Formats: sequence, C-alpha cells, structure tokens
Amino acid sequence: MTDDPLKRIGMATPIFGFSHCRDVVAAVSKAGGVGVYGAGLHSDDQIAIDLKWIEDQIGDLPYGIDLLMPSKYVGSESGGLSGAQAKAAIPAEVTAFLDDMMVRYDVPEETGDEPEDEFLALGGQRYSAAQARGILDLAFASKAKLLVSALGVPPADVIDQAHARGMVVAALAGRVKHALSHVAAGVDIVIAQSYEAGGHTGEIGGMVLTPLIVDAVAPVPVLAAGGIADGRQMAAALALGAKGVWCGSVWLPTGESDLLPVVKRRLVDAAAEDTQRTRAMTGKPSRLLKTAWVTEWERPDTPDPLPNPLHAVAIGSYVSRIEKAAASPHATAQSGAGALAPTAAGQVIGLISEETSCRQVMVEMMTGCVDAVASVQDLLEAQ
Ligand SMILES: Cc1cc2nc3c(=O)[nH]c(=O)nc-3n(C[C@H](O)[C@H](O)[C@H](O)COP(=O)(O)O)c2cc1C
Repeated sequence: MTDDPLKRIGMATPIFGFSHCRDVVAAVSKAGGVGVYGAGLHSDDQIAIDLKWIEDQIGDLPYGIDLLMPSKYVGSESGGLSGAQAKAAIPAEVTAFLDDMMVRYDVPEETGDEPEDEFLALGGQRYSAAQARGILDLAFASKAKLLVSALGVPPADVIDQAHARGMVVAALAGRVKHALSHVAAGVDIVIAQSYEAGGHTGEIGGMVLTPLIVDAVAPVPVLAAGGIADGRQMAAALALGAKGVWCGSVWLPTGESDLLPVVKRRLVDAAAEDTQRTRAMTGKPSRLLKTAWVTEWERPDTPDPLPNPLHAVAIGSYVSRIEKAAASPHATAQSGAGALAPTAAGQVIGLISEETSCRQVMVEMMTGCVDAVASVQDLLEAQ
C-alpha cells in the first residue's frame, strides 16, 4: 500500500468538494474530484439513505464523510447535554428576541408537537463528539475512503478504527498549532481553512496560512481551503505548497445544490463583502452570507449569540420555520423569510455570477489552473 494518503484515496483530480447535499457530493466525485458529504446537519436515518444513494451513483469512485467533532462545548466535561437540559439553559431574552423576529419578518408559526427526536431537540446540528460517534458506525460501514473532522482533533480510537478500515483521516485547521495537534494525533491530511472560507473559520488569510501549515506539518500533505473557486486560485494554492484544494462555497449556486432558490439567487448576486464572520449560526465564529439573520444578531441592542451548542438549540426550530417559509416560490430576498434565510458562504462568492454545474466548475478549475501556470511561466520567461 502506498504511503501517500492522497493516492490511497484514489484521487484523480486534486479538487475536494465539501457539501451537505448528496447530489453535489456525487457530481464532484463523478467529475474526477473527491466529493465529501457533510454529515453534521443530518439525522442518522438521513445519513444512511444519503450514503447508500451516493454509493449507488458513483460506484467505486472515491468520496469522503465529514463530521463535526468539537472537543470543547457547553457540557463537554459531563459528556454533553440532553435536548431538555440544553433547552432549559436558553435565556428567556433570546427566545423573546427570536419570537419577535418571527413576527417582524412575518414568518408563519409552526404547528405540531415538540420534536421527540433527540437530534432535532438538540437543534438539528451535531456539535458534540459524543453525538458524532453515533454516525461513525455508518461511516465505517460505508465505502468512503476519507473521514474528516471539522472542529477538533479526532479522538485516538476514531483514527485507529478508520485506519484499520483503510480510511484516510483528515482534519481542518485554522492555525498552525491546530495543524500540529492533528498530526501528533495521527491525522493523515491537514486542511488549512483560511479566514476567507465559508463556515467555521479562523482569522488568518490563505496566502499566509497555507504556506505556514505546509511548512509546519511537512511531509504530511495539506489541502488549501478558503477562497478557491477558479483555476487561478487553485494554481496559487498549489504554488503555496498545497497538494490539492478543498472547496465549499463554489458548489452552493450549482444546479445540483439543494439550497433554496431565493438563497442561490442572493449568492449569485452577492459581492465579496457580503459575507460576515459571526457567531450567529452556531455560537462559534463562522462565515455566513450577510442576510437579515446576521444583521439582526449583530445589532448592539439584540442578545449576543449563545455558546456552542446552546445557540444551535435556541435557533433550531426558528431556522427550520424560516427555511420552510423561504422555500415558497414567492419568497424574495427583500423581505420576510427570504430576507432572513441564513447560509454559510465564503468571500469567494463575489467571483460567482451565474448558476453552473459541478462538472463545469471542475472543468473550468482544471483548465484555468493549467492556463494560470502557463501564463506565470510566460511572464517569467519574458523577463
Ligand atoms: C454552507 C457551508 C457549510 C459548511 N459546513 C461545514 C461542515 O459541516 N463541516 C466542515 O468541515 N466544513 C464545513 N464548511 C467549510 C467547508 O468544508 C470548506 O472548508 C470551506 O467552504 C472552504 O472555503 P470556501 O467556502 O471559500 O470554498 C462549510 C462551508 C459552507 C459554505
């Protein structure tokens, strides 16, 4: 067996495509990249269905599974809170603010009982290592070649089990010290997640973070994540020493993506400055499209977001109400639920001006990368 983890994955093209949407994952793998399924927002049943669907679509082509396994969160010292415990810890002023927001943006009430499902009761996001463990069985039984930890060093037994099954383990890092902890724990690939990126992100831009992490963890391979949507950016990342690129935002406005149409339109129209690093979604800093959801939470006269995972628990049912209302064909970005509908998105959406397909993104990225390298060479030879 080769020592190169990228070869062990079976990567044909050095493009990794992260998405919570199974259609995007399958399309990226079918186009020669490695689609990576974000399992953190899905229930166990949904994950099982999606993994089977992906495998039916792509056969033996490589794909990966990404889990949220943060090591520190409210209640981590006691193994995590139950849905009921977390709910009881939500301050009344936060609930009052959310109720008032729903009224001001005309978001219809949800009828029906409180969710019995513990996953939904906990806000529909998996933020604890304990919760993520429930889906590791599904990951280990799958044909995925890659297991990724988004928010912390994967536990030793998880790395051991993945390796025993021939899986490669990767983890995201926004600082050199996080990258070094991953490598010390036995992670095979580090993903350098820079400031520009959509989702949970740190404070260091990719131009600095990528070479810092490449040098710090060598010879462990590094993927560059954040601000990469075209071939010029891919060439730059490879020139900085990355062995491949890891993209999230570029797939959001593709035809395969299951994002709400009103949100897709906003992303296509958005400029690079229309995102914000905020605690408004999970309680941890993550980069979101600057919709009214973000501006409401960032106002000085509204409550501060709660720590992880209480924030997810506080907002879970409200976000699902907003998304249901924003799915209406009459929803617009100017008012109501369409104005609020939150999504993570990176600064790179400023470069995306039309809805394309995952295959088109991949082809343009590869040809653009080859062209960018050639033009740099021409430039240097002309000196
Ligand atoms: C909508 C969205 C959701 C994300 N959710 C996760 C996640 O659950 N786990 C994870 O590892 N990364 C997540 N990320 C980060 C991506 O994996 C990736 O690192 C990031 O999008 C790269 O930067 P880019 O947005 O500039 O392409 C998310 C990104 C976006 C845009």
